[in-house]
Amino acid sequence: MSKNVLILPGDGIGPEIVAEAVKVLNVANEKFNLGLELVDGLVGGSAYDVHGTPLPEETMEKARAADAILLGAVGGPKWDNLEDRELRPEKGLLGLRSGLELFGNLRPAILYPQLADASSLKPEVVSGLDILIVRELTGGIYFGKPRGIRTLENGEREGYNTYVYSESEIKRIAHVAFQSAMKRNKKLCSVDKANVLEVTVLWREILEEVGKEYPEVELSHMYVDNAAMQLVRAPKQFDVMVTGNMFGDILSDAAAMLTGSIGMLPSASLDKDNKGMYEPCHGSAPDIAGQGIANPLATILSAAMMLRYSLGEGAAADAIEKAVSDVLDKGLRTGDIFSEGMQKVSTAEMGEAVVAALQEV
Ligand code: NAD
Ligand code: IPM
Ligand code: MN
Repeated sequence: MSKNVLILPGDGIGPEIVAEAVKVLNVANEKFNLGLELVDGLVGGSAYDVHGTPLPEETMEKARAADAILLGAVGGPKWDNLEDRELRPEKGLLGLRSGLELFGNLRPAILYPQLADASSLKPEVVSGLDILIVRELTGGIYFGKPRGIRTLENGEREGYNTYVYSESEIKRIAHVAFQSAMKRNKKLCSVDKANVLEVTVLWREILEEVGKEYPEVELSHMYVDNAAMQLVRAPKQFDVMVTGNMFGDILSDAAAMLTGSIGMLPSASLDKDNKGMYEPCHGSAPDIAGQGIANPLATILSAAMMLRYSLGEGAAADAIEKAVSDVLDKGLRTGDIFSEGMQKVSTAEMGEAVVAALQEV
């Protein structure tokens, strides 16, 4: 039976890095007889330019019909000043996440041993690092209402957002986090701001309650400011971290740097049935777009996660991850992970090296 994968390159470096992941998927498809059928779609600024909206109905229909989605990145200065905020590229991505109820965002930060020198932290602080950030993705302050910018009676403007989580939203992400911890080292750290924000007082309470169903998992709690500090001080103390939408966005970018570069961090965004969208954690990198120098590995590793989590093709996923590791062994590096003595390569050269390594796995 064929499996339908929607490819959404997006904006900026999105098309450059997705092109490399598609090459890798095509080879995996043949080698492992996966029966993948790749379909293209538009999202973000590139969709706005053609259809006047960052999430055309046609894309939403393709996304609903797909078995899995691979996305590059959206956004860029060209669309930053659109008067109607609903038309911004980022709204396309947020619309996909909420429309498909992809509430469980898994962001694994793994240091490939070959990249210990590329991290801005000391090798002993990051060597062997393997943590998983579980980020709630369809609620919290990103989606809470009311929201907006209003003019007060005194003529001054005021911007406002609402940080809200319902019990059921907290429960379902808690289960994702505990189940992830059960498959790993059974340590879960929930990150909140329960010393100040009621919404996270409830978050902490529900985490404790759900934790009773997972007695083997050691649950701890940490305030987000401390968690940010601990992530750069001693990241290996963590196994799985679970947190809300905004804290997870920020902490995962920080965790990315532990692995050498944000260009190394993949992600999975899953619904209750593990149908999902897969994307690198980074953005459209307007500062380097069009130069052919972006690191495609986060996107290639996201494609591997897609094979594992949504398409049941663990062996093909393992092979892609092994191919990435082999390429790093050979000393190939894009600029963001480059260090003395290594060979600097372009986006396409990196993608093609992974393809060649995959053919040999
Ligand atoms: P960014 O992640 O795009 O870039 C931050 C820095 O990291 C830049 O210096 C960039 O060159 C570098 N970088 C990112 N990915 C890289 C890669 N693969 N290889 C090498 N270097 C890489 O974040 P930003 O600059 O804050 O945002 C740029 C745009 O991207 C904004 O419009 C933002 O809204 C959007 N964005 C989109 C996503 C997404 O689509 N998931 C995520 C984050 C930001
Ligand atoms: C991410 C991005 C998005 C987010 C933006 C582009 C909406 O930063 O995927 O991490 O904040 O979730
Ligand atoms: Mn982000």
